[in-house]
Amino acid sequence: MSAREGTFIAFEGGDGAGKSTQVDRLAASLTRAGREVVLTRQPGGTPLGAALRDLVLHGEAVTPRAEALIFAADKAQHVEEVILPSLERGAVVITDRYTDSSIAYQGAGRDLGSAEVAQLQGWAVAGLLPHLTVLVDIDPGEGRRRRGAVHDRMEAEADAFHAAVRGHFLALAEQAPQRYLVVDGTAAPEEIARRVWARVTEDGFG
Ligand code: TYD
Repeated sequence: MSAREGTFIAFEGGDGAGKSTQVDRLAASLTRAGREVVLTRQPGGTPLGAALRDLVLHGEAVTPRAEALIFAADKAQHVEEVILPSLERGAVVITDRYTDSSIAYQGAGRDLGSAEVAQLQGWAVAGLLPHLTVLVDIDPGEGRRRRGAVHDRMEAEADAFHAAVRGHFLALAEQAPQRYLVVDGTAAPEEIARRVWARVTEDGFG
């Protein structure tokens, strides 16, 4: 794969953590600082991804392994079509979810084995790792309260599923603190944004 000149930042966290707000805030700060920002999300973010998103989140009877493969296909398309070209021209790419979501949701939540799912995801994205992953941590009960009544296939899972997902996200962050920032999703949005910006500038990406 060719040179990667840009900066790649992922946001991860449970359903209802408030990632999207933080993605938008960071994008605005980086744009003000003069960087080209490309915002994207997974699943989705490409025409194929949008179709896969619909299948996997709103379709019927998707088996756990099929689910893992659909999320992997979405990432493969997304990396090649959106992320790599943007990084190659020097942009900052911010993605709302990336490989850790699959490692946590399919690996730990669905019990497929996080090591195997990590391997599948690594293959799908040809080993492309974010420079920084911001984990917006939220308790499953609080996430459920914030999501309200409308649920997709993942959100409809029991709190125990979301607790396993949360635990795995935290474990991933603990293993590589130099590549992660964990923020408390119940803090005020301005405070979370301030912490994210502090880390992004500290790492030299601002
Ligand atoms: P989305 O509507 O994008 O929710 P959010 O705003 O919480 O990001 O839904 C994406 C859902 O798909 C979410 O429940 C997490 C799940 N997911 C996986 O299970 N595996 C994955 O690889 C990805 C990217 C998402």
